[in-house]
Amino acid sequence: MRGPLVIGNWKMNGSRHSIVQLLDGISGLGRQAGIEVVVCPPFVYLGEVGARLQSTGLRLGAQHVSEYGSGAYTGEIGAAMLADIGCGYVLVGHSERRALFGADDVRVARQFEQAQGAGLTPVLCIGENAEQRAAGQAWEVLRRQLAAIEPIVEGRAPCPRTLVIAYEPVWAIGTGAAADPQEVQLLHGRIRAVLGAAGRDARILYGGSVVTDNVRALMAQPDIDGVLVGGASLSAEQFTAICELATGS
Ligand code: PGA
Repeated sequence: MRGPLVIGNWKMNGSRHSIVQLLDGISGLGRQAGIEVVVCPPFVYLGEVGARLQSTGLRLGAQHVSEYGSGAYTGEIGAAMLADIGCGYVLVGHSERRALFGADDVRVARQFEQAQGAGLTPVLCIGENAEQRAAGQAWEVLRRQLAAIEPIVEGRAPCPRTLVIAYEPVWAIGTGAAADPQEVQLLHGRIRAVLGAAGRDARILYGGSVVTDNVRALMAQPDIDGVLVGGASLSAEQFTAICELATGS
């Protein structure tokens, strides 16, 4: 049974003041039955947000994790540190990390492994860009990016208790042009098929310009198990409505 999962990715936005306001507006969401809601604040606010989330039922996630364990890696944050402060989730391979910060498939695979090793649930983000889509290479790109979890796909590594993949077409992120739900469904179906046994319980999320107007149609698709929300997760009103619509209420 794959319950809906909604993740808010705040990216590099907010201040102590705005975050407190946002949390005040969304703290009731964690008590909503039948849905798991995660927020991913910037690193520096994780501790404070985590403390405020206690007893709300909302889950804490990070936006990035180091591919290294610990040691002389100035500026990096290790998976064990995230687990230590109460994070349960972490995004790996977000397209902004891939495009701007050198997160290639090898590094993403290491980050995934680090996160899993520390008991976190890594959310593997994959997605083709506009050029690749125009060239008809969307699936090829997704399949290559899924190589980050090849040991799981091939059954060489134990299937994690919770496997989460987020399909986020780069051309849909922050553009207001979300992908067509039926096209997403086709790709999600292929992703699930490739995952084999691990695919049955894996949650496959869609991300890219998710708003109140499109979340219901997306969630109506059988292989869309949740959404990864960027811009709209910064508004308590919009994020609340998205979570409510995602549960079908
Ligand atoms: P968006 O971002 O909802 O603002 O398009 C999604 C994401 O990058 O995770």
